Amino acid sequence: MQRDEEKLGRYFVNPPDDISLASVDLDHLPRHISLIMDGNGRWATSRGLDRSEGHVAGVKALRETITASVRLGIDVLTAYAFSTENWRRPQHEVDLLMHLFATTLVRELPLFERENVRLVFLGDLEALPRQTKEVFEEGLNETAAHTGMTLGLAVNYGSRAEMVRAARTLAAKVSDGTMSIDDIDADAFSDELYTTGLPDPELLIRTSGEMRLSNYLLWQLAYTEFYVTDTYWPDFGRWDLLRAISSFQSRDRRFGGVK
Ligand code: IPE
Ligand code: IPE
Ligand code: MG
Repeated sequence: MQRDEEKLGRYFVNPPDDISLASVDLDHLPRHISLIMDGNGRWATSRGLDRSEGHVAGVKALRETITASVRLGIDVLTAYAFSTENWRRPQHEVDLLMHLFATTLVRELPLFERENVRLVFLGDLEALPRQTKEVFEEGLNETAAHTGMTLGLAVNYGSRAEMVRAARTLAAKVSDGTMSIDDIDADAFSDELYTTGLPDPELLIRTSGEMRLSNYLLWQLAYTEFYVTDTYWPDFGRWDLLRAISSFQSRDRRFGGVK
């Protein structure tokens, strides 16, 4: 991916003591970084605020991570915004999130235009409120021709539902004769997932300290490096992203082999 060195340098000025742009090898960045943006609620309640304030603050953190990733020249950034289990939250919180997704997307379309970001969605959009779904479709159409970073937003996403859907699609193709059972392999299965066409994430970042996947990309994360930070998502910024990348670059990735 193309990188504007001058813009990059300007974006990462005044580094904190422990990390700087020089801490990462820009020639070996992960192609695909994925985020479990967790801790918005705890960020808010720890400040005596309503959980909704945490979600609003979380949008700003995502904007910063998107911009930082574009500056670095990351190919693919994906982010878990709403899981298939998040419908269990109080109705007013679900409503607020759906409204926030729609208004944020409308507001950020100029950013995607300016930065050449292509938007994709992971998840079942059919179940979303009409307004949110329409705005998402507009975002898809308006950014489809962009050739810069791909931003994947996982909304109403659940990995088990995604895999069941893939299995059904393959079964239907076998039963109507367009595919034979022998053609079902890992690639054919991957092609039926929401992430089709995207490389698997090389780095997964989860904020706010939880050591679990919460039904996120179970198939795609098979050999991904994990980075968990106690920082709540709204406090996550460009330097945290560099810390995660620096940690990733210190790992010995063996993929089951020996060195
Ligand atoms: C992540 O923050 C945002 C969404 C799941 C939409 P949370 O809302 O899960 O924040 P905590 O985990 O309750 O602190
Ligand atoms: C995972 O966070 C989902 C998103 C970040 C959108 P949750 O807050 O829903 O996960 P659990 O409930 O702690 O496992
Ligand atoms: Mg949470």
